[in-house]
Amino acid sequence: MSSALLNVNDLRIYYYTLTGVVRGVDGVSFQLQDGEVLGIAGESGCGKSTLGYGLLGLIPPPGRIAGGSVVLDGIDITKLKPAELRKVRWAKVSMVFQGAMNALNPVYTVGHQLAEPLVIHKGMSVKEALEVAGEMLKRVGLGPEVLGRYPHELSGGMKQRVMIAMALLLKPRLVIADEPTTALDVVIQAQIMNLFKEIKQRERNAMIFITHDLSLIAEVADKTAIMYAGKMVELGPSDNVFNNPAHPYTQGLLRSIPRLRGKEKITWIPGVPPDLRAPPPGCRFHPRCPYAMDVCRSEEPPTVEVEKGHTVSCWLYAKR
Ligand SMILES: Nc1ncnc2c1ncn2[C@@H]1O[C@H](COP(=O)(O)OP(=O)(O)OP(=O)(O)O)[C@@H](O)[C@H]1O
Ligand code: SF4
Ligand SMILES: [Mg+2]
Repeated sequence: MSSALLNVNDLRIYYYTLTGVVRGVDGVSFQLQDGEVLGIAGESGCGKSTLGYGLLGLIPPPGRIAGGSVVLDGIDITKLKPAELRKVRWAKVSMVFQGAMNALNPVYTVGHQLAEPLVIHKGMSVKEALEVAGEMLKRVGLGPEVLGRYPHELSGGMKQRVMIAMALLLKPRLVIADEPTTALDVVIQAQIMNLFKEIKQRERNAMIFITHDLSLIAEVADKTAIMYAGKMVELGPSDNVFNNPAHPYTQGLLRSIPRLRGKEKITWIPGVPPDLRAPPPGCRFHPRCPYAMDVCRSEEPPTVEVEKGHTVSCWLYAKR
């Protein structure tokens, strides 16, 4: 058995809607070691959040796990009953949800909301829990006075720091952050990214950082994964993926990032991602790919290792 902290194998998460089955995540496999940071990027709707929910065992209806496994610290969370899952969630894995900074309860103080899980999960007294909560706020760069404040008394950046503190509170082995900077202005975005870098150095828990913005993960992620239409099409050490992108989609994404200096022309990938109720056969990227061959239109590409630990799902690299 693998010693990885997280072992995701052929995970499929489908939404069973009235208009068809949406294959939000469709056969994703990867591993994450203790303390490692993985960045997951890809266009809107490619399944990033769905994958995050799957790792937390919290898939919103009408979504369900349609196949595969998610083994976290030796436990397959796809097989757990809701009561068992609740114990794993937050204690072993937590998530800063997309848009979550507006999910703080407006009628309770920050201190109340941070102390509650400590009282429930750890059996602490309220006084002890508030001390730990204050300590955790310090770690995300907020003063103890924030404990007594209500969410409407905080700025967007402060609320996001509170959400990050909440995710770290029970010291989970894995923290998932879904678009943690998207709703923030550029300066605050940079501060939150620096906070994640500090957390990575200090807490040493594994992290999965989800964003549609590749440039944000370059600095913080050890490994980078690129998703397209429900599939993970490329995965490798961040340096390799950024400096030597193998998948034509990754190459297109990287060319679309504006650079302050340099004369490279910014281009965007023509076309739009497919409808996940009826994705194209073969390689799902083939209608947009400048290198598409006949085989790409009919057969799903195999996953090939192009460098150590750097894999890509593309016929260009398959030995036939
Ligand atoms: N509750 C739902 N019911 C039906 N389909 C859904 C539901 N949630 C997501 N989907 C669909 O599943 C696919 C993946 O969505 P998901 O939210 O995971 O994408 P994402 O990569 O996180 O996008 P974004 O960058 O916009 O956050 C999309 O086609 C989306 O329309
Ligand atoms: S498999 Fe074919 S269509 Fe898909 S990315 Fe590779 S070359 Fe392009
Ligand atoms: Mg999302």
